[in-house]
Amino acid sequence: MSEEIRQALLKANPAVADSKESEEDIVLNISLRPKGFSEFVGHREIVDNLKISIEAAKQREEPLEHVLLSGPPGLGKTSLSHIIAHEMGAKITATSGPAIERAGDLIGILTNLERGDVLFIDEIHRMSKVVEEFLYPAMESFQIDFVIDKGPYAKTIKFNLKPFTLIGATTRSGLLASPLRARFGIFYSLDFYRTEELARIIRNSSRLLALKIRDEAALEIARRSRGTPRIANRLLRRVRDYAQVGKIEDVDENSAARILDELRIDRAGFDDLDRKVLKLILESFGGGPVGIESLAASLNEEVDTIEDTVEPYLLMAGYLKRTARGRIATRKAFEHFGLKFNREQQEEIF
Ligand SMILES: Nc1ncnc2c1ncn2[C@@H]1O[C@H](COP(=O)(O)OP(=O)(O)O)[C@@H](O)[C@H]1O
Ligand SMILES: [Mg+2]
Repeated sequence: MSEEIRQALLKANPAVADSKESEEDIVLNISLRPKGFSEFVGHREIVDNLKISIEAAKQREEPLEHVLLSGPPGLGKTSLSHIIAHEMGAKITATSGPAIERAGDLIGILTNLERGDVLFIDEIHRMSKVVEEFLYPAMESFQIDFVIDKGPYAKTIKFNLKPFTLIGATTRSGLLASPLRARFGIFYSLDFYRTEELARIIRNSSRLLALKIRDEAALEIARRSRGTPRIANRLLRRVRDYAQVGKIEDVDENSAARILDELRIDRAGFDDLDRKVLKLILESFGGGPVGIESLAASLNEEVDTIEDTVEPYLLMAGYLKRTARGRIATRKAFEHFGLKFNREQQEEIF
């Protein structure tokens, strides 16, 4: 892969350099989205339980109970929500916590729902408190309370809604107010995927993209996908770009590895931001402990970005540890960067 090709690709497709998705990526991402349970790879237990809940609700001719899905970005929350609606034979209305600015917006959405419809609220933890309180009676008894007038003349009017299913998705269920969490009957937290599962997703997607790729190449991409289907598909699309421009007909393990190296995705699946975070902890903070705010400030990133998209994988994969005094880098992190682990005793303390 010559530098020339790389530069051409960077120009044609800024997403190579930038992890933000291009328009084409967004379209491709939607077309790679699993449509039914049979296309949804992994998370067997969740899928099996959901199938039973859906079957039971259908037999009773009732809407499904409200569902809360949590987990880091790209693990399939939105996909699963659409699949649930699809399997219920229900219409889905999708919105997000920050998009519902005023209670009036929510009332508008709720009163437009038909019996059995699914309302999907993404990033539900970012909904405002005022809006959230309107949601409580709507979820609990399919009613909303309007308050008219003020002071001593204030009156509450109840408005009946048609029974619906709310599906909420959140990257951080811990940020959800407990009265809100308590109103969901079904709660699943999605975990990172195993390499074999990601390889399966990659093989399925490559068929849809008409890209010839060997099983070992799919595994190599899977290993560098941070346990995340969205990243697996994104890396696959970049591999496809390289293969196309470099006229590689059949992507094998070696060419996959070379392309991923070019994309600066290392053997652990880390991208530039992962490396920046870890190196900062290792080099500037002596391995930690360091608070998340100091980290974010030093990196000029949002605390949310670090907490939602960077940290969960580093914690799961054992490169970082969370302690009461902040984040510390583990021996694995030191060794990944070829540094000598210098905190034998400290690790026992934490
Ligand atoms: N279990 C899965 N099986 C197959 N593909 C998946 C799965 N989960 C996620 N994906 C892929 O990853 C992409 C991102 O998933 P998405 O549902 O948008 O994640 P989230 O809403 O949790 O951020 C989807 O478009 C789909 O291509
Ligand atoms: Mg989503």
